[in-house]
Amino acid sequence: MSKIENIAVIGAGLMGHGIAQIFAVQGYSVSLVDLNDELLSKALQDVRSNLTLMAQKGIGHLDDIEPAIARIKTTVDLSEAAAGAQFVVEAVNEDLGLKQEIFKNLDAICPKEVILATNTSVISITEIAEKAKIGERILGTHFWNPPYLIPLVEVIRGQDTSTEAVDTTFELLKGVGKHPVRVNKDVPGFVGNRLQHALWREAISIVERGIADPATVDECIRFGFGLRLPVLGPLETADMVGTDLTLAIHDYILKYIESSPEPSPLLKKKVEKGDLGFKTGRGFQEWSSEEAQRSRTRLKEYLLKVTRK
Ligand SMILES: NC(=O)c1ccc[n+]([C@@H]2O[C@H](COP(=O)([O-])OP(=O)(O)OC[C@H]3O[C@@H](n4cnc5c(N)ncnc54)[C@H](O)[C@@H]3O)[C@@H](O)[C@H]2O)c1
Repeated sequence: MSKIENIAVIGAGLMGHGIAQIFAVQGYSVSLVDLNDELLSKALQDVRSNLTLMAQKGIGHLDDIEPAIARIKTTVDLSEAAAGAQFVVEAVNEDLGLKQEIFKNLDAICPKEVILATNTSVISITEIAEKAKIGERILGTHFWNPPYLIPLVEVIRGQDTSTEAVDTTFELLKGVGKHPVRVNKDVPGFVGNRLQHALWREAISIVERGIADPATVDECIRFGFGLRLPVLGPLETADMVGTDLTLAIHDYILKYIESSPEPSPLLKKKVEKGDLGFKTGRGFQEWSSEEAQRSRTRLKEYLLKVTRK
């Protein structure tokens, strides 16, 4: 594989602009693609405000912001963006057909040694690569939102992905300060989203069964075992308390835990009624726009504090 100097990011939305930012800050030349100039200038503006907020919190320097932004070239032309890149990350909408089409085009545009990565949240990498000829260089790089503050990137091996492509991607991500992990099987949801949504399914089920209200469910996590999670994952915790105790607990409790393969009827009803959460003022709970904004700010402030450390 050739030395990686130029990165192309396809899709400049919530994730794409943040991924472009990560590489530009570390000195890479980045080509950022979206459907029109308005979306692209908004993306650059978003990068500027992210970096400004970070600098104000002591992460990076104000003087480095404009040089980093200058390393991001924007274009609406996929071929132009991908032409000189050695590594391409796709971050367009979560739509299998759209992603397959983009990978088919990238496959035709990019020489065979160029690595093509998708930031899909849950879709199979192998399916996304289906219309491309060279599957060996296609893999998943699942960044988490906001990608410039959350260290984890799941590097997912598709059915045909080469070890070389996985290793090169892993090193590239480590080099820009991320915490990559290897996901060896291309299963829907990979690792992070499987774990996350197993928890969400149970959280919704607890509310649906009238066991506790939504705020209480969240408090049980935020003030309880959630405090342990940044330090100990569940498997290290299982070893700490003992696999024998874990077995005894599972032996008793698993039959009572939600196992439905369908989304919860309560969740479906909320969506049908238009109770979409922060954006409509009501989801599982009621949200004024000030409360919603406070919640977003609380998250960002916390992530900035953790990143600074
Ligand atoms: N939002 C999250 O929290 C999150 C987290 C991890 C992964 N992801 C995944 O990242 C991907 C992007 O999500 P997002 O939240 O940034 O979405 P988004 O809607 O904010 O951004 C998608 C962008 O892609 C652009 N786009 C669409 N078609 C395009 C094309 N043909 N060429 C170039 N650009 C095109 C859109 O105009 C839009 O700006 C999805 O696959 C999503 O599942 C999202």
